[in-house]
Amino acid sequence: MARLSVVAALAFTGAASALQIPLQIPINTPWTETPAVHQDDGDELPLIDSKTLQDRIASSSLEARAKVLYDLAKRSEDEYNHPTRVIGSKGHEATLTYIQSTLAQLGSYYNVSSQSFPAVTGNVFESRLVVGAEVPSSAAPMGLTPPTRNNEPVHGQVILAENEGCEPSDVPEQASGNIVLIKRGTCPFGTKSENAGKAGALAAIVYNTDPEPVQGTLGTPSPDHVATFGIGGTEGSKYVEKIRKGEKLDAIAYIDAEVRTIVTTNIIAQTLGGDAENCVMAGGHSDSVAEGPGINDDGTGSLSLLEVAVQLSRFRVNNCVRLAWWAAEEEGLLGSDYYVSQLSGEDNQRIRLFMDYDMMASPNYAYQIYNATNEENPTGSAELKELYIDWYEDQGLNYTFIPFDGRSDYDGFIRNGIPGGGIATGAEGVKTKDEEAMFGGKAGDWYDPNYHQIGDDLRNLALDAWEVNTKLIAHSIATFAKSFKGFPERNADAEISSYGRDVKYHGSKLVV
Ligand SMILES: *[C@@H]1O[C@H](CO)[C@@H](O)[C@H](O)[C@H]1NC(C)=O
Ligand SMILES: *[C@@H]1O[C@H](CO)[C@@H](O)[C@H](O)[C@H]1NC(C)=O
Ligand SMILES: *[C@@H]1O[C@H](CO)[C@@H](O)[C@H](O)[C@H]1NC(C)=O
Ligand SMILES: [Zn+2]
Repeated sequence: MARLSVVAALAFTGAASALQIPLQIPINTPWTETPAVHQDDGDELPLIDSKTLQDRIASSSLEARAKVLYDLAKRSEDEYNHPTRVIGSKGHEATLTYIQSTLAQLGSYYNVSSQSFPAVTGNVFESRLVVGAEVPSSAAPMGLTPPTRNNEPVHGQVILAENEGCEPSDVPEQASGNIVLIKRGTCPFGTKSENAGKAGALAAIVYNTDPEPVQGTLGTPSPDHVATFGIGGTEGSKYVEKIRKGEKLDAIAYIDAEVRTIVTTNIIAQTLGGDAENCVMAGGHSDSVAEGPGINDDGTGSLSLLEVAVQLSRFRVNNCVRLAWWAAEEEGLLGSDYYVSQLSGEDNQRIRLFMDYDMMASPNYAYQIYNATNEENPTGSAELKELYIDWYEDQGLNYTFIPFDGRSDYDGFIRNGIPGGGIATGAEGVKTKDEEAMFGGKAGDWYDPNYHQIGDDLRNLALDAWEVNTKLIAHSIATFAKSFKGFPERNADAEISSYGRDVKYHGSKLVV
């Protein structure tokens, strides 16, 4: 366990030179790790044992790390007026430095590397939509939307696209110089926006097929994208009806936004010990959204992994352990996607499985397990799910299954044939009555009432759940670090089954 000691500014020499991370900000951690006692591959250390590793996990250490992280998020205040760890911010750079320097204190137990990649980031500064005489209350600009022309309001007639606007021919000629209204479904929002842009439209509005608003993103920018809003189905179908009746509907659309590309960094740590041909991999994301400090999302998963990394360094491993802190998860899983895209075929096969740890301490938590299966997902995903089930059952704890639908960093792995899964404690979902009986907390509220908001700070943590889940993370890593006995082999010739059905998410936002 980490011992508290006098605040020490860390020496960066050596650790820093291997990195491309700006290190001009010294990090004061409130403790120093016990000096590394191990040789390169940990030969003299005791063999990893799940129970012993779990016993070393305590919420006091996790909480101390969360306090450090919150202080780092505050470094963005000058630029953002509030704490955040969004990519490109000082808070995120400091987060990377903190992870890196903590690992550097473990001597040569891990080979720590960083991977820089371009990430697209969007900011909407102001937006407004007026349809006819009203402001649709459900209107929200899509993620990564370009601005309206000259970042000024545009005005035009609302033209209805045919079908779902997925083909260029679905957008009528009159769309040119006007505003297109498109139904959600069949193809990504980005494709609809592109088709509207190609037809010369000034803006696009995608209306939901459900009454709710759509929190969507256009995804990878295209020169043909136009300023795009999402609106709820109730308001959308009202406008559709008016237009179908022959009524002429005008609209004003205004989006002041920017889309830019910045370079950000994944951090990867791999044990020098253990069979490098057979790795167990786990990851969390180092970044937050711009709206807040992201202490639960995903400060908790990142810090759980960091704490497990520190504790694991006292043990010898039979199989290689590879840990990742992804960047730009909140921009649409960019870091993990990039990482997987860079793997050679052999590198891919060395990863026996990937475990995703995103949001471990939601205040109104449920113990959630991703509902992965071997029928729909790469073989081994079901065995991992069983490991989580067995552990919660051994502890006498309840658990639920949640859709395995592309909302976090496991997505790139699953799509590339690598078995995966993970646990979470809930985001903007609503706790049911049954779940209140199973986990306590409050039915009718979000699992994380501060999800993607400024309130995701030090008060937004259920420390009990965090400790429980970090022990389970330790168990998952220790189990496979010791042995893959009973766990399916990777099969390079297997046809890749990713989800076995369409998924609507890529990250926290809808793409379809
Ligand atoms: C450390 O990791 C990097 C990146 O994967 C790799 O190129 C390098 O060979 C590794 N070094 C050792 C000593 O394993
Ligand atoms: C989990 O997946 C199985 C198999 O696809 C399915 O039958 C079950 O309904 C799913 N459960 C939840 C809660 O999504
Ligand atoms: C598990 O859920 C049941 C209700 O389904 C509840 O009675 C029980 O107390 C819960 N167990 C724990 C450990 O919370
Ligand atoms: Zn997250």
